[in-house]
Amino acid sequence: MADVRILAFESSCDETSAAVIKNGREIESLIIATQIKSHQRFGGVVPEVASRHHIEVITQITEEALKEAKVDYQDLDAVAVTKGPGLVGALLIGVNAAKALSMAKDLPLIGVDHIMGHIMAAQLVDEISYPALALQVSGGHTELVLMHDPLHFEIIGDTRDDAAGEAYDKIGRVLGVNYPAGKTIDNWAHQGKDTFNFPRAMIDEDNYDFSFSGLKSAFINTCHHADQIGEKLDKYDLATSFQAAVVEVLTTKTLRAIEQFKPKTFILGGGVAANQGLRESLLGQIPKDVKVIIPPLKLCGDNAAMIGAAAYNLYKAGDFADLTLNADPSLELPYADSYFA
Ligand code: KG4
Ligand code: ZN
Repeated sequence: MADVRILAFESSCDETSAAVIKNGREIESLIIATQIKSHQRFGGVVPEVASRHHIEVITQITEEALKEAKVDYQDLDAVAVTKGPGLVGALLIGVNAAKALSMAKDLPLIGVDHIMGHIMAAQLVDEISYPALALQVSGGHTELVLMHDPLHFEIIGDTRDDAAGEAYDKIGRVLGVNYPAGKTIDNWAHQGKDTFNFPRAMIDEDNYDFSFSGLKSAFINTCHHADQIGEKLDKYDLATSFQAAVVEVLTTKTLRAIEQFKPKTFILGGGVAANQGLRESLLGQIPKDVKVIIPPLKLCGDNAAMIGAAAYNLYKAGDFADLTLNADPSLELPYADSYFA
């Protein structure tokens, strides 16, 4: 088969990104314009501000992506875009850019699920052997996904409330850490002791779901109570205790899923994949016969390269969209109940 070159877009949250990907494996260019600074002062992503930034930069980053890859529109075989989940206004900027190019340059259009994209970042790093299992942990998601092949993904576990990264950001705020707080809390967690023994929610339950809001509340209550009685708590011990709870739950459920589904490949993805404690815990305990792929940080956060990787698999399957393609803010991979009695 001749080379397949895809121009991909990602604009579901607070990064605008364009990339040119060859054969679903090779990054010819990747441009990411982050908006974090604009959202920082609000302590989280403001949807209106996000859409406005996307529209300001999307034309320019498209040109940069083509230039960096040293290609022109006639060298492309398709244009791909994240269709959901995400912020609807933000998604629409990418979807409309992709539709406009598809029409103007007569290129097939491919709509990609954002979570499928995150997981397919692994395809840019190494060959994925199937079945594969992915733990996708970010500011918006905490999911265990079972992949039968490059096109059939099923969620076997999901968060019932806050995502893991969201919990990091919320407890970080209580400790006066700027958004996004994960990295700082992770650093502090290596300097204290697990003295608070926070709850490990759902750890013994017979499912692969997660819940982090009880942990978050326990953390916040502990801090407020200490405040009220004028007691000063050690921020390092707080961070260590919080991280120990998150890491133990994520690791325990992942190992249990590996035992049940016996994947050939395990993939860790999403912004929280940067977490040193989580990496050490998983790498130390996943059976040696399972191939582990942890993409570099640039590919763990939101980026268009992962969308181009996933789009290649859809391209090969002939799964194209038409100009009725719309943003779907609550798009979800199928949830697999069938494995649980
Ligand atoms: O995937 P991502 O860049 O954006 C989405 O949410 O889609 O993930 C960002 C999240 C934030 O919540 C941030 O606090 C968290 O990833 N994060 C971390 C670490 N680095 C980033 N959480 C824990 N430990 C880290 N080292
Ligand atoms: Zn994401």
